This record gives sequence, C-alpha cells and structure tokens, in this order.
Amino acid sequence: MKISKKLQNWVNECEALCKPDNVHWCNGSEEEYNSLAKLLIEKGTFKKLNDSKRPNSYYATSDPSDVARVEDSTYICSKNKEDAGPTNNWMDPAEMKKTLNGVFDGCMKGRTMYVIPFSMGPLGSKIAHIGIEVTDSPYVVLNMRIMTRIGEKVLDVLGDGEFVPCLHSVGYPLTDGKKDVTWPCNTTKYIVHFPEERSIWSYGSGYGGNALLGKKCFALRIASSMAREEGWMAEHMLIVGITSPEGVKKYIAAAFPSACGKTNLAMLTPSIPGWKVETVGDDIAWMKFGDDGRLYAINPEYGFFGVAPGTSMDTNGNAMLSMEKNSIFTNVALTDDGDVWWEGMTKDKPKHLIDWHGKDWTPDSATPSSHPNSRFTAPASQCPVIDPDWENPKGVPISAILFGGRRASIVPLVNEAFSWQHGTFLGSSVSSEMTAAAVGTVGKVRHDPFAMLPFCGYNMGDYFNHWLNIGKKTDSKNLPKIFYVNWFRKDENGKFIWPGYGDNIRVLKWVFERLDGKNNFEERAYGIIPSKGALDVSGLGLSETEVEKLFAISKEEGLAEVNEMKDYYKIFGDRLPKQLNEELEKLEERYNKM
Ligand code: GTP
Ligand code: SPV
Ligand code: MN
Repeated sequence: MKISKKLQNWVNECEALCKPDNVHWCNGSEEEYNSLAKLLIEKGTFKKLNDSKRPNSYYATSDPSDVARVEDSTYICSKNKEDAGPTNNWMDPAEMKKTLNGVFDGCMKGRTMYVIPFSMGPLGSKIAHIGIEVTDSPYVVLNMRIMTRIGEKVLDVLGDGEFVPCLHSVGYPLTDGKKDVTWPCNTTKYIVHFPEERSIWSYGSGYGGNALLGKKCFALRIASSMAREEGWMAEHMLIVGITSPEGVKKYIAAAFPSACGKTNLAMLTPSIPGWKVETVGDDIAWMKFGDDGRLYAINPEYGFFGVAPGTSMDTNGNAMLSMEKNSIFTNVALTDDGDVWWEGMTKDKPKHLIDWHGKDWTPDSATPSSHPNSRFTAPASQCPVIDPDWENPKGVPISAILFGGRRASIVPLVNEAFSWQHGTFLGSSVSSEMTAAAVGTVGKVRHDPFAMLPFCGYNMGDYFNHWLNIGKKTDSKNLPKIFYVNWFRKDENGKFIWPGYGDNIRVLKWVFERLDGKNNFEERAYGIIPSKGALDVSGLGLSETEVEKLFAISKEEGLAEVNEMKDYYKIFGDRLPKQLNEELEKLEERYNKM
C-alpha cells in the first residue's frame, strides 16, 4: 500500500491519542469484508440472514439510544461564530479540540483501529474528493464499503494529495477487563466539523450519518464549505434521469429533508405509460459547471442508506430489488425464516417476528417491529434502474431542481419559480415536519431551507448568497429551472390527497413539459402551476375540487406565511441577501392583490 508521509503522520497521531490495541489498514477486498462480518457475528453484533432468502446479507440492531442523527450534538467549529451562523451549534475550535482530545484519549483501548481510505465520487473524477476515516467500529467499515469506494485503489489515486481526515470512535474503550457489548456507543456524543481545516471528529455514536463520515459530515457539511470557496455546490439532493415517451432524456435533482421521499423519487416506477426513470443518486449531489455553462452533477456515494419502513414492492420496488443481496439491515425486524421485515413491507403482517429490541413480536404487539429510522445499506450498482451514466466522472447535466418538504397543509403539490432568484427564495422557504431521521420531536413543522438545515457547514445566510451567485455564473438559459413540490398535503380527514410514489411521475411529466417551454401553465401569487387539465391525473379518480385543493392557498394563509418568513429571516441579520427580502416583499404584494 502506498501511504503518504502526511497520511502516515495523521494515522500515527490518531493511534497515539486513541491508544488502540491494533491498527488495520483496510484494503477494501471481499476477503476483508467477509472476515470482518465473521468477527461481528462472533461479537453478536451481526446475524447472517438466510442465504437462500437474502444472500451475503447481515442484520444488526443498535443500542436503543443510538438510532438516528444527533443534531444537538453536531457542531460547526469555524474560527468565528458568525461563520457557523444562527442555524448551527458552534464552539471555538481550540476549545473544542481540548474537549475532543480529552474524550478521545484512550477511547480505543482494547479495540482495533481501522483506517479506511474512501473516495466520494468515481475514482479519479475531477468532481470527486478523498477522505480517510479512522474508526474503531467494524460495523462502520462494512457500511462504508457499501456506501463509498474504499481501499487500496483510493490510496493509489490519492498519492500524496489532499484528503479530509475523519476520526470516529464509538467511545467505548475496553479497559480494566470491561466486556464488549453488541452495539458499543456512549451517551456523550460529539459530531464535530472544522471547516477551515477541513476535518471531522465524531465520538459516541455508531449509527448512520453520525458514524459513516463520508455521508453527511463530509459530502454535505465539509463539502458545502469547500463548494462555496471553490464555486460549486454540495447539496442534499437525489439525481434522477427521466426519459419521455418520445425518447428525450433530462436529468433532475431534488432536495427534500430527511425521510421526505428522495430515495423513493430517485427510483420511482412510473404509473403512466411510456415514461422511464433512472437513478443516479438518492441523497447527495455535487454539482460543478461544465465547459458548456451547464451544471453537471455526480452522486458522491456508492450505495443507498435508505429508510426501511414504508418501502415495499408497491411503493419502491427498485429499492426492494437493490437490497436483495449483499446488504446490511439495521433496526428492522427478523422473520422466523431468517429474513427481514418492517412496517409496510407487505400487506399481511407476519404472524411472528423478533423486533428490533430482540423481543418476540406479533401483529397484536403495541409497538412497531422496526424502528421508524431503521435502514438498509445496499450497493447502488444493484439498483435495477441505475442510470448508465451514474459513474460518469463528468457527471450528468441538470435541467431542473426540485425543492420539497412534508407539509400537511398550505404548500401546493407543485409550483415553478418565476426566476433563479425566486427559486432561491423558494429554497430558503422550505419547511417540513420533522421525521425520525434525527433525534427530536417527530411531526413538528420547522424551517429546513434547501433541506440543508442540519447539513450546511457554514452560515446559512452566506449559503443563500452562494445560491444567488451560482445563478450569476452562467447564462440564465443554462441554469436549471426551479420547482417546489409537496406530496404530503392532507384532507380534512388527515388522509394524503395525492397518491404519491409512482404517481409522482405525473408531476415530473409537467415539469418536463415546462422545461420544453410548453405553455400549459397559469400564474398564482406563489408561483407557476399547471393550467386546468395540464396535470395528468387520468385514472386517479381525483375530482376537480380535489385537484384544486392541492394548489389552493388563500390570501390569509399566504400572508400568514409571509409574516412567518419575515420573522424567520430576522435570525440571519445582515447575512441575509437583500434579494431574498425583495422576493418576500413581491410575494406579499401578489397576495395583497388577490
Ligand atoms: P433520507 O434517507 O433520510 O434522506 O430520506 P429520503 O428523503 O430518501 O426519504 P425516503 O424516500 O426514504 O422516504 C421516507 C418515507 O416517506 C418513507 O416511509 C416513504 O414510504 C415515504 N414516502 C416517500 N415518498 C412518498 C410519497 O410520494 N407519498 C407519501 N405519502 N409518502 C412517501
Ligand atoms: C438523513 O438523515 O438525511 C439520512 C440518513 O440520509 S443519515 O445518513 O443518518 O444522515
Ligand atoms: Mn438524507
């Protein structure tokens, strides 16, 4: 293995601080994967699933306290507090380093320290970047091998180039004969980012975005800060290719908050004939301008870390097929024949399961069998509709950007922005009901601008400004058109009005037609919507009144939202771009004229 001096020095520092018993450099091979899986089975962390049902796949359950991202313990430690902004936790970097040096001291005693070289993006792509994760969790190594490109080949590309150092520990040293547990973690947690030195320290959690540091920590928080400095974009977006019945293909990116439908939209099975959808990515997009002035996106990831509950052959068959083999399942339920199950997977519930707490479960049980943030880890290459260009190092050209959230009322099914600036305003106005993807109150509506609230590595006001600047970097005809969607509007009885899932193609179809400049639209105060009959609702059994309900915002509701936004914008002080206030004022005027 070719290891640069800089890399060796940093790994030596980690070793001196964390004091592991052994150091293992991951080569990324299948043998390594299998032997670590065997080790996890011996430790009791993994159960091997029935090979005839789900080949080469494993089952894990976490400590019940370590089930989701911990936003309260996530920090952006820039030198100046203002550069982290009002939406991030901040601590002085020197002070934070002192704290971290304390908690990491000896934190890997009795354990092996794994060194994982990983590439975010196709190896050698100009849009890709390399990180090194040092971790004491073999579970993390195995998930990282599915989620990113890891191993010796990454070191070959790295040479003595730049990498993002990512230090991770579950924070459970095996000192004084302390016995290991199946899911080691610590009640003290720190998920810390130093954007100026581009490094990550994560302590105390073994789950998801807290521990798989290539994902939210690197590809969003650190990368968003890099992207701002270097003039590109790192976004919480799926990327999807859509081909019309005429054979025309366009790529669309979409930013929805956690557990609000990205994976589902990324691989949807169209419910109307002739349309084809192909997946590039389901969670993160890195976008740079190409020589032609258009934005090109890559998926920096290599796998899907998807929400299990609600995923079925009916709602997302392509996700189900992606995880048929070579996958890891965490916090779902175990069937009597050694396979997995979760709420919504099948219409009929199994008569007996072992739930995610390891207890017997029957359909009469009072609690769900799977944690609402239980997840599957599956290789993207196994997705039946993976796009032929998903690993193209140049990326794919983006024609439209969708924003969306989970809103039971007010926000319409779809509307198009009047301009890039208005689209940036729409992105800044995204709010959504909180989900189980983060520890906190599920269902509470909160602002989640650009679906980046927990993931922006710098001042959100500066981020808004970065979006406006991107819009000035190219001819406006090259810019993606911007739309805002909401699949989650409910009627008086609390039922979703829009069928969602595969039927979301109907909205994409209208978006597609708008990209072609079709005049099938009308203007509302809040934006551009399909004219009567332009949204294909054939066969849905939705009445005209119901369709109108999907787009209705009364003057009172609209003005109340405007006032609420005015309050929200105040938190950004002088970092709020004046153009966004202008857009808000124009929106208020349009509502007043209603
Ligand atoms: P993260 O991986 O946390 O970023 O989530 P995500 O944005 O990829 O969300 P995902 O596609 O996994 O969907 C989350 C939940 O929303 C699942 O339970 C889905 O079944 C549900 N969901 C997704 N799309 C729709 C839709 O169009 N309508 C309705 N009603 N529910 C949906
Ligand atoms: C999200 O919360 O947006 C996720 C899951 O995609 S995690 O990787 O845990 O961040
Ligand atoms: Mn996500």
